[in-house]
Amino acid sequence: MTIFEAYNNTKRRLKDAGIEDNVFEAKIIIKHITGFNNNQILENYGNELNEFQENNLTAILRQREIRYPLQYILGEWDFYKYKFKVGVGVLIPRSDTEVLVEECAKFLQDKPSPKILDLCSGSGCIGISLAKDFPDSAVVMVEKYAEALRYIDQNIKLNGAENTLVLEGDIFEGTANSEKYDLIVSNPPYIPPCEMEITSPEVKFEPETALLGGEDGLDFYRAITKNYKNALNSGGMLAFEVGINEAEYVKSILTDGGFDNIEIVKDFNEIERVVTAIKV
Ligand SMILES: C[S@@+](CC[C@H](N)C(=O)[O-])C[C@H]1O[C@@H](n2cnc3c(N)ncnc32)[C@H](O)[C@@H]1O
Repeated sequence: MTIFEAYNNTKRRLKDAGIEDNVFEAKIIIKHITGFNNNQILENYGNELNEFQENNLTAILRQREIRYPLQYILGEWDFYKYKFKVGVGVLIPRSDTEVLVEECAKFLQDKPSPKILDLCSGSGCIGISLAKDFPDSAVVMVEKYAEALRYIDQNIKLNGAENTLVLEGDIFEGTANSEKYDLIVSNPPYIPPCEMEITSPEVKFEPETALLGGEDGLDFYRAITKNYKNALNSGGMLAFEVGINEAEYVKSILTDGGFDNIEIVKDFNEIERVVTAIKV
């Protein structure tokens, strides 16, 4: 089978499996199995795949056909400006979350040596991206589960993010020390259990501990607002990613918690995705 035939075959099988982004994914898969970049693929599209590459493609397609996430199959995914290792037990970094990182980056501009706390860190994609963009910052990441903690460590090494510290902890128990931060950021679990049914088949392979945010999806916002306000410097920012239709509820939680200058920011799909607030 030639590279061109493999690409067309991959696209068709992904489409038949109900995968909308079949063109995008087919390109990524062909690049992965050949090791070629876009130009090399165009120059060599008539080349025959070798036996190993064909076997690899078959294995990948069998997994995608049961909607096992492509990111877990490849073991690595691009987020914001950096690469992150991902696999079973850790949430796959989403492009929506890049909006949260961008809002944090805007706030941190011109702040000398900022102290940053990333709660519910998962792969570490938020904390590590900010640590890389702001090398004079000090970033602390808090995560409860061992599976995710292993990925944070790998991703710190992969990205050479030396200005980071990882803590195993539960945000419902609050801070263990009296450290103060200029920015507290979190993309916590926020899906209400009743909405799990309507999530994509891929999401069902991700850990529920990274997805479910209590009966109304808002438990983590209430706990973080209450437990971490004292950990924020005056003038510091609390920044949350929120689920669909949650922004106004989170805004109320922040208003009730005594925060000011509350702003809601939309993602690339015009969905209210980020809520930021300032501690007066
Ligand atoms: C929605 S994921 C976000 C991961 C990452 N921040 C991102 O944006 O991709 C939420 C993360 O919170 C972690 N988590 C769940 N409950 C927690 C708790 N009580 N305390 C700290 N982390 C928790 C999960 O293991 C998961 O890694």
